[in-house]
Amino acid sequence: MPRPFYVTTPIYYVNDVPHIGHAYTTVAGDVLSRWRRLRGDDVVYLTGTDEHGLKIKQAAEAAGITPKELADRNSERFQETWRLLGIKNDVFIRTTEPRHYRAVQEFLQRVYDAGDIELGTYEGLYCVACEAYYSEDELLDGLCCPIHERPVERITEENYFFKLSRYEKRLLDHYEAHPDAVQPETRRNEVIGFIKQGLCDFSMSRTSIDWGVPLPWDPKHVAYVWFDALFNYCTGVGYAEDDERFRRYWPANYHLMGKDILRFHAVYWPAMLMSAGLEPPQHVFAHGWLLVGGEKMSKTRLNQIAPADLVADFGVDGFRYHFMADQRFGPDGDFSYEAMVSRYNADLANNFGNLANRVLNMAVNYCGGVVPDTREDGPLVDAAADAFARLDAAMDQLDFSTGFAAVWELIRATNAYIEDRQPWALNKAGEATKTAAVLGDCLEALRVVALLASPVIPNAAGELWRRLGLAGGPEDERLPEAAAWGRLPAGSPLEKGAPLFPRLEPQ
Ligand code: MSP
Repeated sequence: MPRPFYVTTPIYYVNDVPHIGHAYTTVAGDVLSRWRRLRGDDVVYLTGTDEHGLKIKQAAEAAGITPKELADRNSERFQETWRLLGIKNDVFIRTTEPRHYRAVQEFLQRVYDAGDIELGTYEGLYCVACEAYYSEDELLDGLCCPIHERPVERITEENYFFKLSRYEKRLLDHYEAHPDAVQPETRRNEVIGFIKQGLCDFSMSRTSIDWGVPLPWDPKHVAYVWFDALFNYCTGVGYAEDDERFRRYWPANYHLMGKDILRFHAVYWPAMLMSAGLEPPQHVFAHGWLLVGGEKMSKTRLNQIAPADLVADFGVDGFRYHFMADQRFGPDGDFSYEAMVSRYNADLANNFGNLANRVLNMAVNYCGGVVPDTREDGPLVDAAADAFARLDAAMDQLDFSTGFAAVWELIRATNAYIEDRQPWALNKAGEATKTAAVLGDCLEALRVVALLASPVIPNAAGELWRRLGLAGGPEDERLPEAAAWGRLPAGSPLEKGAPLFPRLEPQ
């Protein structure tokens, strides 16, 4: 029975349209899911849209439409973008779906029955863009939100409170017992430091708006948007709908997100789950921000880049590769168009694309257009095994850039091997068997490259697979077996073709 593997992205707010920051997390989740499917796991990959709350209501008012109309319009924009980027999510959840209302209400009732929700009056400073309350000392001068740098609002309401303060010790015990539950480690330290400062109860309902899920025991109140949003991860695998499915996939293996929303996922969320008698997620991974000109992308700063604009220049695979290879998944990183062009040219057009072209051209010309029945089984045998081992280890840490660097090492080793053996010279000297043996190794290395690179560049990998005369696609293979050397069948018809990654001129 394959192991279940459940991975999620945040569900994105529908006041905004997708930009490359959203795409960054979503591509990462897709690469991880595709890798795990190759590894033989039974993967569920969830993404979706977060459609309730004041922020959405205000954005809809500004656009002169209803919140539902805004949500329908922008949720579709996210789905279109994910289709464009080749994202293979198994679930797309919208928080306005009836199944989510049912699940959230059942969950709310459980937390209420557990005695962790109490009525109180709240007066506090609220940032609508974050949909979060702040204490004064967390704010910038002029009572501005530290993330959005604009003034917060003072709000007084009768609210229900979630008794988060009761969970300090249980959360600390949980993180002590599961040292890798929050990753990377710097983020874990932040979370533990935050819990140790003492946790305050937080207001989990609103009466000032009606755009949300009504509390089952007091329907004048709707659930605070984060309370409803976080629960999407449970709705998405069948909570209150399909118990067997829920039990199979919960707790999630990974929640991926940007560091901006780590606290919600690593403090509020596990406590909410504990209250309802559910297990906390196994891992929460918070990556850094993609910065543009040194700043976080945001609607207010007008520095957002649409994924489709970059796809027009670099293609889907060029887009995906850049964000996974260019910087480590963890720290912040600056996006630059120039850096994207040079990495594309170096890694994809030159190293990968040229290698595929050269090898296929020579094999078609010197070996009668089919995979030769002989190999040298030279230095590439170890290089291929090494690439797989290093990629595998890196993917366990979600260290995508190190993992794919190992695959590109195999590409470089294959290029170096060609320079060393000079199959064109062997062919000219009439050494047919030696020529075939050298090219046999190169073709085999290309097969391994296509297989291992397929999670990040699925289209080019699939095309290379086809040109190598292989049936199906890399995604039909299973690791580790498929990474073993020597599985390319002799006699398969080879095909030359147009460059997989045409070179781009720097602008
Ligand atoms: N709706 C909430 C999440 C609820 S999850 C239960 C939300 N939505 S959001 O639309 O603002 O998306 C935030 C997420 O988008 C970040 O956590 C991150 O995954 C991604 N990113 C948005 N901007 C980003 C960057 N500039 N850089 C990297 N990731 C970014 O918060």
